[in-house]
Amino acid sequence: MTKVTTLGQFIIEKQADFPYAKGELSRLLRDIGIAAKIVNREVNKAGLVDILGDNGTTNIQGEGQKKLDVYADEQFISALRSGGECCVVASEEHDDCIFINSKISQNAKYIVCIDPLDGSSNIDVNVSVGTIFSIYRRTTTDGPAQIDEILQKGERQVAAGYVIYGSSTMLVYTTGKGVNGFTLDPSIGEFCLSHPNMTIPSRGTIYSINEGNYTKFPQGVKDYIKYCQVEDAMSDRPFTSRYIGSMVADIHRNLIKGGIFLYPTTSSHPNGKLRLMYECNPLAFVIEQAGGKATDGHRRIMEIEPHHLHQRTPIFIGSSEMVEKVEAFVRLSD
Ligand code: AHG
Ligand code: MN
Ligand code: MN
Ligand code: MN
Repeated sequence: MTKVTTLGQFIIEKQADFPYAKGELSRLLRDIGIAAKIVNREVNKAGLVDILGDNGTTNIQGEGQKKLDVYADEQFISALRSGGECCVVASEEHDDCIFINSKISQNAKYIVCIDPLDGSSNIDVNVSVGTIFSIYRRTTTDGPAQIDEILQKGERQVAAGYVIYGSSTMLVYTTGKGVNGFTLDPSIGEFCLSHPNMTIPSRGTIYSINEGNYTKFPQGVKDYIKYCQVEDAMSDRPFTSRYIGSMVADIHRNLIKGGIFLYPTTSSHPNGKLRLMYECNPLAFVIEQAGGKATDGHRRIMEIEPHHLHQRTPIFIGSSEMVEKVEAFVRLSD
């Protein structure tokens, strides 16, 4: 019989990498895994119960919230609240951070930034969605956490990852020592190690961008897209265009196959569309740990100074040689 390693066992084994660890981060990751299973259950039966469609509310970004956006947000926050290891949560679905002021949590060490449900526009049509999470250690030691403790650069993340609710459900995460992927085995209800030590090829043949916005892109990005489309056998061009519209799913595919995901500035989104704290930083940490790159065209995503919770950034993320190539095009047209 092949040995099965569950996420829970793996997390405990890996605690040895951090000799002074007391198990808090392990418990926090476990809590996120539990909430992911609950959200997975609802996503799976979404067409059968009344959880598809709009919630009739709007979040701070002006996006209409889906019922599943709200459900996933509630599940993750409630798991973090009752787990006791997290003192503050910042979520896409809340204007402000949520301070957990219970006796056990207010002195907890960790801060979590979360996109509870990524790819909302795909929910109603049964296409992959995800969850993205990012974990920071707080910078003061006790008492209620302060707002500026949340606004740390991505390079200070202690762990980050995502869940993809796809043809199978996976949880992929890093604590800064490589990337590991776990597939949910529904028969035993456990995430099991299926993709140890994930690495992204240094180049691939997939580019992922919403090309409908082409006329609104900066010149360097337009030039890069044309480069992807030109025939050149030496560099396997033309590349293949693949765009799901859930960045978790697009980036997961590119992590496995090699490729680049781009969400540049556009004339209608002059700061880009995707959010630094709970979309770009965590995925940048995962991709860098897998050997890839993530930049805004000029600097590492994880070195960007955050000024507010819902800050946006342009992003180019994926196989290292492909990210370097787009950066060269962007620099040329500056
Ligand atoms: P969310 O559903 O969490 O609001 O995120 C949506 C994001 C991201 O997942 C996706 O890559 C991107 O929006 C798609 O945007 P466009 O529809 O503009 O291409
Ligand atoms: Mn949204
Ligand atoms: Mn998202
Ligand atoms: Mn979302």
